[in-house]
Amino acid sequence: MPILDRNTLEFVSRSPEQTRRLGMRLGSMLQSGDLVCLNGELGSGKTTFVQGLSQGWGSLDIVTSPTFVLVNQYQRMDGNTLYHLDAYRMQNALEAEDLDLVQMIDSGCLVVEWPENIREALPGDCLWIDMKYVAEESRQMVFKPYGERYIAILAEFRRAAFGG
Ligand SMILES: Nc1ncnc2c1ncn2[C@@H]1O[C@H](COP(=O)(O)OP(=O)(O)O)[C@@H](O)[C@H]1O
Ligand SMILES: [Mg+2]
Repeated sequence: MPILDRNTLEFVSRSPEQTRRLGMRLGSMLQSGDLVCLNGELGSGKTTFVQGLSQGWGSLDIVTSPTFVLVNQYQRMDGNTLYHLDAYRMQNALEAEDLDLVQMIDSGCLVVEWPENIREALPGDCLWIDMKYVAEESRQMVFKPYGERYIAILAEFRRAAFGG
């Protein structure tokens, strides 16, 4: 699928708090069935973003890096589940098959760190976010929607976060 350039949103976050706030905005818009892919090197701010995202989504739990457990689950009062997968240590899509990602997306929202590692196992439609270290407290974030649902979410996110 081609990158929908007219819909791409670029932003430089100037602090971890700002990254968390953006995550909160996005989290508050997610619905069951949504997939968010967070791509970027170690320290680029992926987990920091998920901390805000889970809060905005409605989780009462604190987010920690799931690097050693692969998947963390967060529950909401209404019974919804947010799955946070860190594929850093995964070699390929075959390993991901055991996780039943489809079931996760069917029954809740899924956020994936290191999505490149398991790309073939993920649905094509998603909100893809590239994160990059710029300086000590600065991180570039590029939001790319794949599919109508994510074009809509990103348009709403852009309005809510930047008023544009
Ligand atoms: N603008 C920023 N956005 C996100 N994190 C930042 C920012 N500036 C500094 N940081 C710091 O960078 C680190 C990012 O770590 P983390 O979110 O775990 O990254 P990743 O999950 O991509 O490895 C944290 O220590 C965070 O406090
Ligand atoms: Mg991380």
